[in-house]
Amino acid sequence: MTLKSEITQIQLDQIRELIYKETGILYETKKDYALKGRLEKRMEAVGATSFHEYYNRLFFKDQSDEIQNLIEELTVNETFFFRDFPQLQGFAEKALPLIVEEKKAKNDFSLKIWSAACSTGEEPYTLSIIVQEMIEDYENWDVSILATDIDRQVLRIARKGEYGQRSMKNTPLPYRQKYFEKSGNFWRVLPHTAEPVDFKLLNLVDRQAMRRQRGYDFIFCRNVLIYFNDLSRKKVVNSFYDSLNPGGFLFLGSSESVGRITAAFELTKIDEFLFYRKPKKAR
Ligand SMILES: C[S@@+](CC[C@H](N)C(=O)[O-])C[C@H]1O[C@@H](n2cnc3c(N)ncnc32)[C@H](O)[C@@H]1O
Repeated sequence: MTLKSEITQIQLDQIRELIYKETGILYETKKDYALKGRLEKRMEAVGATSFHEYYNRLFFKDQSDEIQNLIEELTVNETFFFRDFPQLQGFAEKALPLIVEEKKAKNDFSLKIWSAACSTGEEPYTLSIIVQEMIEDYENWDVSILATDIDRQVLRIARKGEYGQRSMKNTPLPYRQKYFEKSGNFWRVLPHTAEPVDFKLLNLVDRQAMRRQRGYDFIFCRNVLIYFNDLSRKKVVNSFYDSLNPGGFLFLGSSESVGRITAAFELTKIDEFLFYRKPKKAR
């Protein structure tokens, strides 16, 4: 029989610090109640009978996998196809044609896109659909879409490529018919939709892994940096800067602004759309 113990504020703060160090996500003290709830869920999953035992498992045992499990419990994975349609319109109708024309002029028919923090895959598959729709001579192009996330569970779902009605709610009917097949209550992405997309586990605060990402024309990192603090946000956006080709575009979520984080990107207006672009000449 063990004596049940409550988690102390010091232990909770240490766990908060661990999560921040591992993910860049700052779990604010006002969310302590939610954090405790998630910890209880993980305790139950591993059969820990007290917070103390679970804490030891996180920090002292050679059980680094539990940190990953806890992270996966804490991440917010909400996503759907064609999320933030107006922003995607700007990408499809202005930014993409601009890069396509610039590359064609250099006889370069390769296009590299990165969906960083892709969750269950709706975003990178959406980008695949857009690229196939918008590039007239798509078959002449070598398009690659890297889709990454910190969460192994969402990547498993993403690779499977089967989606319910909730994910599909914003998907125009012609695209449903052309890029998916209906299978019972699910919509499954067709092989040609999945073809340019490659899913990989990648942590945005892993500096070495980030340093390996180079030569992108477009980076999408939407609805994730809101969970970071200013410092980790800045580090990630600076890494994206290095990962982009000169003239490449960065797309963040609508409530996230690059301007507040760094002055390195140019704010470019094309018709009614605003974009963050890496300057063609390095500053
Ligand atoms: C709300 S989803 C956003 C999905 C998609 N980008 C969208 O806008 O619909 C946020 C995703 O960020 C991932 N994430 C959180 N911290 C991360 C990190 N440090 N590295 C990589 N992915 C992370 C989560 O696992 C989650 O799947």
